[in-house]
Amino acid sequence: MWKELQREPLNHKKKGQGEGEMDIIGLGKPVKDFLITLQKMPPEDQGTWLDDYSSQCGGKVATAIVAAARLGMQTAMCGVVGSDGKGDAIIEDFAYHNVDTTYVIREEGKTSPYCICIAEKESESRRFLADRGTAGNFDEEQLDFDYIKKAKAIHLENGDAASRKAAAFARENHILVSMDADSYTPQIEEMEELCDIFIGSAFYFNQRFQGKVTYKEGLLEIAEKGCSVVIFTQGSKGCVGIAEGEYFELPAYRNVPVVDTTGAGDVFHGAFLSAYLNGFKAEESARFASAVSAIKITKIGGRAGIPDWKMTMHFMDTGKIERENELDERVQYYRRRVL
Ligand SMILES: Nc1ncnc2c1ncn2[C@@H]1O[C@H](COP(=O)(O)OP(=O)(O)OP(=O)(O)O)[C@@H](O)[C@H]1O
Ligand SMILES: [Mg+2]
Repeated sequence: MWKELQREPLNHKKKGQGEGEMDIIGLGKPVKDFLITLQKMPPEDQGTWLDDYSSQCGGKVATAIVAAARLGMQTAMCGVVGSDGKGDAIIEDFAYHNVDTTYVIREEGKTSPYCICIAEKESESRRFLADRGTAGNFDEEQLDFDYIKKAKAIHLENGDAASRKAAAFARENHILVSMDADSYTPQIEEMEELCDIFIGSAFYFNQRFQGKVTYKEGLLEIAEKGCSVVIFTQGSKGCVGIAEGEYFELPAYRNVPVVDTTGAGDVFHGAFLSAYLNGFKAEESARFASAVSAIKITKIGGRAGIPDWKMTMHFMDTGKIERENELDERVQYYRRRVL
């Protein structure tokens, strides 16, 4: 089946689109990440050696947008960072991955969000130590609707006024609205009605339904609000979804060495949207996204291990990661960067 679907991502410019046209615009909070991997957290008052460290960037939508860019999509990010060095690093990293930063706004005198992410190999678990930063959120007044109008999809992580307004505008203009429901808030629950593609984490499912329904019932309840695709990701267990009334379950790709699962969920979203916009059906897009996430987790951080389109297809066909040296070069690049 995959052979039939195997093709290059669309090159929209060649397909007659005008200069500056977009596939996906993200709206969310970009973060500066510092990542550590170690075998096991030391007990209190003791130390241990790091396996590795890496100076990357993160944020749910931000990393999804980077994943889509690496998969060949034309992407842009809307978000706010501070005027500090972390803000510089965040913008530089978007540029490194070919993401348009016209609407990454810098707030003078403010600091950018910062997160120290610790991945423990023994338990395959993660810990996050975060500083919110003093930079604010993207304001609804800052939305440029002429710019959004160029996109085929927008990707959101929040239920704030700007996200609601962007979603409502996108729907009116036949632009797909995609949501990363990672953590639960009542505002994100309200977004269920405004989205076409609603992909939530197991955490969101548990908070939202409090153990009262099965996954299938939960998916149906959200789909009935008008979402054409609803998916819940379940970490190493894979994902379940419902699309155009059809229920599906997909296992995760477990044939990879797990180095760091940070950002596995984030890139799943970017990869799903990339495949979906390239004409894959929802279940096939979710399988493609699972493959992208699986390759990503073989390298430290949310971004170093993101594969390109061909690498992903090859992995789905053979279970092997080709041109792994390209990902390792990126690991080295992020290791050399200033903290
Ligand atoms: N240990 C793993 N092995 C293989 N695949 C994994 C693993 N962890 C995650 N994945 C893949 O990534 C997808 C998304 O992961 P997950 O459900 O953990 O996202 P999440 O809860 O949103 O977490 P986060 O956003 O913090 O990365 C899963 O559906 C699965 O396909
Ligand atoms: Mg997530």
